[in-house]
Amino acid sequence: MSELPITQINLPPGFIDLGMGNPDLDLLPMELLREAAEAYFLAGDRRTLQYGVEQGNSIFRVALADFLAEGYGQHVNPGLLFVTAGASSALDLICTLYTQPGDVIFVEEPSYFLALRIFEDHKLRVVPIPMDDEGLCIDALEDELAEFQPKFIYTIPTFQNPSGRTLSQARREKLVELAQVHNCLVLADEVYHFLLYTQEPPRPFAAFTQDVEQVISVNSFSKILAPGLRLGWIQAHGEVIKRLVGCGLLDSGGGMNPFTSAVVQRLIESGGLKENIAHLREEYTRRLNAMDAALRKHLPKAEYTLPEGGFFFWVRLPGVDAGELRQKAQEFDVGLRQGALFSSQKGNKDYLRLSFCYYGPEAINEGIKRLSDCIASATGF
Ligand SMILES: Cc1ncc(COP(=O)(O)O)c(C=O)c1O
Repeated sequence: MSELPITQINLPPGFIDLGMGNPDLDLLPMELLREAAEAYFLAGDRRTLQYGVEQGNSIFRVALADFLAEGYGQHVNPGLLFVTAGASSALDLICTLYTQPGDVIFVEEPSYFLALRIFEDHKLRVVPIPMDDEGLCIDALEDELAEFQPKFIYTIPTFQNPSGRTLSQARREKLVELAQVHNCLVLADEVYHFLLYTQEPPRPFAAFTQDVEQVISVNSFSKILAPGLRLGWIQAHGEVIKRLVGCGLLDSGGGMNPFTSAVVQRLIESGGLKENIAHLREEYTRRLNAMDAALRKHLPKAEYTLPEGGFFFWVRLPGVDAGELRQKAQEFDVGLRQGALFSSQKGNKDYLRLSFCYYGPEAINEGIKRLSDCIASATGF
């Protein structure tokens, strides 16, 4: 009998999936969570096993606000934080509350392919906006705004999945201004904001939310602690928070994840979260450098910009159909994600997304070598 699955992706032994955006099991902080859970059980507050307050555990939100204030360099009001079961749940809830089937939304081209799946579930009409090295192109956005009235503009402004790009400060300000003029939301998915490896990124969209009703910042513990916690948050204007808190889902089920929030609260208060992020930055920097070195060595024709944070290299292999390459690469025990997956138009055919989060330097080098062997072996690449 094959092993019963516990994780979402289960790879055959020996296979190196460089497309995988999940963190390495070895980087999931079991010990920090054990300590936090012990502190939680010692305190013995049974209220966190009850249906929770709709906005999310208030003491947790205070701890989270303090953590964010330090990271963002500005005061964060815990009253403007809303607890979710991760960024995916936040995106889904916002679609439920703010859209109807057939509504137009704008996304970056390319964008996170699984967010596109959520938008598909809500039967939204997706209009892609091109990006350049500074992120979403504002001129192209203005052209589309002249034609469509989108419900929201979905952006991953910092260390984007898949392109690794970061939206400049000037464009952030312009985007917020346009959203106010056209009365549509900016839905900013900021899950990679704290995973920086060189310099600080521009201020997050979260920083606009206190004053601007049109901006919603979505974030998560999946990348900075562990995806299995299913814990994240929204930071938004009071009017948005009011709307979220009033929804039927919470009326029935109470606030999301009160138990997990209470454990993570201890981990924030003890400094464990900061410690974990520092460790991740160090480890991911090593892996990023290993991927860069391996690409230079084994795939010198690969075109990419070195990412400054996040998980991904967005690589162009001119003349290569990355979808076909992915198929063929199976025979070489190596995986990737083809660029077309991240396109609402099935474009980006000669691009691939490679991740450096799941494997250590040695496996990264071996995976890139296998990819190079695969390309060398095949005609038509
Ligand atoms: C941009 C982006 N948003 C959301 C998610 C999913 O986050 P969560 O686990 O919090 O649902 C991911 C995970 O890969 C992501 O890259």
